[in-house]
Amino acid sequence: MAKTKHLIVFGTRPEAIKMAPLVKEFLKNNLHFETKVCVTAQHREMLDQVLEFFEITPDFDLDLMKPNQNLYNLTAEIIVQLKEVLEEFKPDYVYVHGDTSTTMATSIAAFYSGAKVCHVEAGLRTHNKWSPFPEEINRQVTGRIADIHFAPTETSKANLLLENINKESVVITGNTVIDALMESVEKVTEKPSKTIQDLEKTLGKKDIILVTGHRRENHGDGFEKICKALKTIAIQKPELLIVYPVHLNPKVKEPVNRILGEISNIMLIDPLAYQDFIWMMNRSKLIITDSGGVQEEAPSLGKPVLVMRDTTERPEAVDAGTVILVGTNTELIVSETLDLLNNTERFKHMSTLHNPYGDGKACERIVNHIQSLES
Ligand code: UD1
Ligand code: UDP
Repeated sequence: MAKTKHLIVFGTRPEAIKMAPLVKEFLKNNLHFETKVCVTAQHREMLDQVLEFFEITPDFDLDLMKPNQNLYNLTAEIIVQLKEVLEEFKPDYVYVHGDTSTTMATSIAAFYSGAKVCHVEAGLRTHNKWSPFPEEINRQVTGRIADIHFAPTETSKANLLLENINKESVVITGNTVIDALMESVEKVTEKPSKTIQDLEKTLGKKDIILVTGHRRENHGDGFEKICKALKTIAIQKPELLIVYPVHLNPKVKEPVNRILGEISNIMLIDPLAYQDFIWMMNRSKLIITDSGGVQEEAPSLGKPVLVMRDTTERPEAVDAGTVILVGTNTELIVSETLDLLNNTERFKHMSTLHNPYGDGKACERIVNHIQSLES
């Protein structure tokens, strides 16, 4: 029987981390599948860090990132440039991940080409089209187009069924972020990088609060308030060190450097390579973030997380008690952080290990499902 053709497309750091184990799983099954990887390079440096760590060389690289890019051009460019790739490779199946512009635009282009669209990390919802913006609509549009929905949890499957998605097309797999994490934690322990060795020396024995942030709906006023909160925490807890790998988006870098640049116990650094970031999460006492992926990784590492968002499409960790939502309210970020640091019982409760997002076998389930359709 002729091999079917599979195109895996991603563009940003989190998609790359979560699709890397899927690329490997498809390549392992090369007797059945012809697999190619296309990166839109909606991100450049932050994507390349991940490609290097997972040793993935894309077959197609659209190299689209522009400094301070806007949603209109990015979306249009992805659709236009994918046409050539789709016409050249003629995939039977196209795989997209999550909720970025790459995800939505690729699913539209793949639909135009007639390929089956497979949505990995399907069914996450806040039901608020402005939060996260534009991700909630990106994932809803992708959900409408997709032929196969790989939902990470029961909750995400239930969201899809509420939208009248045919239940036969939904498969619960767990989240591939856990596949990536399990594989990478081993590598980090075996061979710490030079960055980790340097960080170990700089951090010494200090307690660390790790911070990340980038969401579009927090740009402007939201980031001003977040930075003010971090500054207050740093001043009130001089014995602590706040480590903040700053996202490369200029709309993030500007307020962060302006407000936090000169504070002695705040360390602003470039985005860490994935393996170094995992080490840093493990080394931290608590994490303050607006990231989706970090919310999923932290429960597996037993790290309490304050999420600087008003809504989350990842209720599982909130229900498990590892994650609390604090929005971008300066007072609330400060009071919740200080309370958590001072209240041992509460801290212990939030540090309990949980695994609501998967068991590390999501990619195997995805590939097995596709194989079952083909046999
Ligand atoms: C994007 C996704 C968001 C995801 C996030 C992960 C959309 C609309 N947004 O947001 O869903 O959570 O990635 O980080 O799809 N930049 C660099 N180098 C890089 C990456 C970014 O310089 O490697 C700068 C560029 O100036 C770029 C800007 O950041 O124009 C914004 O990148 P973009 O992908 O549009 O938005 P993110 O905020 O990164
Ligand atoms: N991450 C990383 N280096 C960093 C910060 C985060 O490799 O300096 C990883 C993190 O482990 C997680 C992913 O990037 O897997 C999250 O990406 P981001 O927060 O940019 O996007 P989101 O998950 O919110 O879409």
